[in-house]
Amino acid sequence: MRVIIKQDAAQCAKWAADYVSYKIKRHHPTPNKPFVLGLPTGSTPLGMYQELIKQCASGKVSFEHVATFNMDEYIGLPPEHPQSYHYFMKENFFKHINIQTKNIHILNGMTRDYEKECTEYENAIKKLGGINLFIGGIGTDGHIAFNEPGSSLTSRTRIKTLRLDTIKSNARFFDNDITQVPRTALTVGIGTIMDAQEIMIIATGRNKAEAIKHGIEGALTHMWPISVLQMHQHGIILCDEEAASMLEADTIKYFKEIENRTD
Ligand code: GLP
Repeated sequence: MRVIIKQDAAQCAKWAADYVSYKIKRHHPTPNKPFVLGLPTGSTPLGMYQELIKQCASGKVSFEHVATFNMDEYIGLPPEHPQSYHYFMKENFFKHINIQTKNIHILNGMTRDYEKECTEYENAIKKLGGINLFIGGIGTDGHIAFNEPGSSLTSRTRIKTLRLDTIKSNARFFDNDITQVPRTALTVGIGTIMDAQEIMIIATGRNKAEAIKHGIEGALTHMWPISVLQMHQHGIILCDEEAASMLEADTIKYFKEIENRTD
């Protein structure tokens, strides 16, 4: 696992965007060989999206032959609902870059047939040859996408009931009214994320420190889904100093030293 500790959220955003651009360019994407990105929502990736928008506008990166799969979507929110992840992605990223609509994939939270929707999503990922780089955030309890603690570490795309803590935490996007937050969501599974060639999890702020500690120094356990990254061949945790603040001093020194030499 690579652990990259940057001073603050802005530096994380810049590093993440530069890494995504570099990966896309190195892939030399074409219509038949698109670069396939897994994407998150939440406040954490916003800085990265803003930076990628700038890089796209200046011609540093092109999304013309990039295909995307979002991690999750609330059940019952139509795409035009301001808190749906469809809306979030369109407003904060897609409408500002040169991505082709046909290459955007987001789970349909309005479907009546959840099983079919989830199976088709998994099939669409396979059809494009799998995900090259899956980017994620984390919940304060270490959840990735909507895979809450206790989720099977080999789970696939499916419907999940959200924990009360997650509902409370996401209420900030719903006028702080927890009754407005959907109780269920469709989400890629941990197994779906783990199938990606590479995974980059971004965490910023002190409220993510416990999850980061468990993910890096703790044992592999379904109670801290982030810890599954220890089993991936190409996992990156990108965090700021606040999110890294509960790590042992030696852990920080170890990973910083490796990254300094890598740079
Ligand atoms: C939600 C999303 C996750 C995201 C998490 C953290 O639960 N389903 O994918 O990582 O929120 O969000 P934030 O980045 O706003 O802290």
